[in-house]
Amino acid sequence: MSTDDTSVPADRPTEEITVTVNGETVTTEVEPRHKLSDFLREHLGLRGVRVGCEHGVCGACTVLMDGDAVKSCLSYAVQADGAELETVEGLADDGSLHPIQQSFHEEHALQCGFCTSGFVMATKELLNENPDPDDEEIREGLADNICRCTGYQNIYEAVNRAADRMEDE
Ligand code: FES
Ligand code: FES
Repeated sequence: MSTDDTSVPADRPTEEITVTVNGETVTTEVEPRHKLSDFLREHLGLRGVRVGCEHGVCGACTVLMDGDAVKSCLSYAVQADGAELETVEGLADDGSLHPIQQSFHEEHALQCGFCTSGFVMATKELLNENPDPDDEEIREGLADNICRCTGYQNIYEAVNRAADRMEDE
């Protein structure tokens, strides 16, 4: 069950954390029990962070922490103290889609879209580390993310397209 409510009752202990999220630095009080996924969604309003299984299985909640893909349902907000976080909301630049978002769009790599932000962030980590992955490397790079709708092939095509596009930029 989600611990969605991140408002802090007066009688609960809290810790101060400072995180940089999509380039903006935030200092705030959180309860130690609050998951990072709930903190991002409820406290910061970043609803692109999706919560599916809450068990580290589906990858819908994937965000980047200091450049590494993490499942935010398995992390506590206090563990992000001092970190740089990236969510899907930080990708578009002044209304223009990020090349990965554009490629997912063009390759029809989503249907319901519930998994998409997690796939996009996992792809960002993959292409940061390996700008020209082969098919096997793409499959391995996205193996922690589950999609119930697309059958994956279009997602892999989108990653290939994004890699080409980012190489050309
Ligand atoms: S919600 Fe985090 S892995 Fe499924
Ligand atoms: S597009 Fe629906 S779960 Fe992936």
